[in-house]
Amino acid sequence: MEEKSVVRFANRMDQLPPYLFGMINQMKMEKRRAGDDVIDLGMGNPMDPTPDAVIEKLIEVAKDPKSHRYPESSGMPHLKIEIAKYYKRHYDIDIDSETQTYFTIGSKEGISHLCLAIMGPGDSVLVPAPAFPIHIYAAVIAGANVMKIPIEPEKSFLDRIINICESCYPKPKVLMLNYPHNPTGVVTDKEFFKEVVSLAKRFKFMVINDFAYSKITFDGYEAPSFLEADGAKDVGVEFGSFSKSYNMAGWRIGYCVGNAEIVQALGKIKGYFDYGIFSAIQVAGIIALRDCDDTIPELANLYQTRRDVLCSGLERIGWDIKKPKAGMFVWAKIPEPFNKMGAMQFAVEMMDRANVAVAPGTGFSEEGEGFLRLALVENEERLRQAVRQMKKAMENMIV
Ligand SMILES: Cc1ncc(COP(=O)(O)O)c(C=O)c1O
Repeated sequence: MEEKSVVRFANRMDQLPPYLFGMINQMKMEKRRAGDDVIDLGMGNPMDPTPDAVIEKLIEVAKDPKSHRYPESSGMPHLKIEIAKYYKRHYDIDIDSETQTYFTIGSKEGISHLCLAIMGPGDSVLVPAPAFPIHIYAAVIAGANVMKIPIEPEKSFLDRIINICESCYPKPKVLMLNYPHNPTGVVTDKEFFKEVVSLAKRFKFMVINDFAYSKITFDGYEAPSFLEADGAKDVGVEFGSFSKSYNMAGWRIGYCVGNAEIVQALGKIKGYFDYGIFSAIQVAGIIALRDCDDTIPELANLYQTRRDVLCSGLERIGWDIKKPKAGMFVWAKIPEPFNKMGAMQFAVEMMDRANVAVAPGTGFSEEGEGFLRLALVENEERLRQAVRQMKKAMENMIV
């Protein structure tokens, strides 16, 4: 029979489930349009402002016609120097600003394009699960085979890597990491990264560490950079983001630092796709990296207080909560008997009955079943309110 529509998509589209945040956002928008006050703990989209100095610089530079031209796509030299200085100051790592740094339109864009540059059909990629969706789907879009490894416990994570590398042919080509981890809040230490580097050399795989939550850390914990491990630059790169450390999620600026060949591959593929970040944002980024070290601990404290409010609220209503040491989320086990309905349905019920938007664990692959991810983006009062509304909704739910 003749097909009616001329609209047909590429086969790879069949491998992409509907984007989780898209669905949650749609439901939230419908509720808000109907006049409901939805407390939004769904996405890690900060509501707090970007530092004033950064905004002021953006305004100043945006007025200069020179900034209206196509920008320097890898990042302007001063910005690249500033990220190298940042790594020296914060982690005592030497980075060659010219060859070992590349600025991206947010870290998500950078990770996605790097996957296209370094993997394809026939390649396998190890990804911790549950996972921030792009860690899995950037590889899927690139046509690679994704092998998921449970993020916990840490010891068996490394053992699983060894096991897979010893038993699979072809061996994995890339290991994707994300510490501090979204969605679980799992953190790591320098020892772990040392072992990763030694495995990468032994089994010849590349490493990508997504370090988006580098500075949102609590209770004195400091997240190590992957590049602190000796030899890390021989095997991999790290992606950083301005979105969380400086509340610049909408500005779209992130970076890749580390192995020069991998950085170069990212630049090559991006050269075909885009022209880089608006120059005024790049200059404002210099201010963030150079002058805003002081705002980072204040921000981390803000999240720590919110974490305490949300965790103790949920504990009070009987949830079994593990307090995260980093990140912007609480990864919460759905209590019995509600866990039986599945995380997606429970999240829908919370939206419908409690006016609270949360992310179901299954949005981060099936390993997240039984969990919810709650983002610490609303203020303390709204977090308390969210817990009250969730409690009431659960009291009225028949399971
Ligand atoms: C682990 C992780 N990586 C990357 C991103 C996206 O960062 P960016 O805004 O720099 O693209 C997020 C956003 O939530 C994230 O959770």
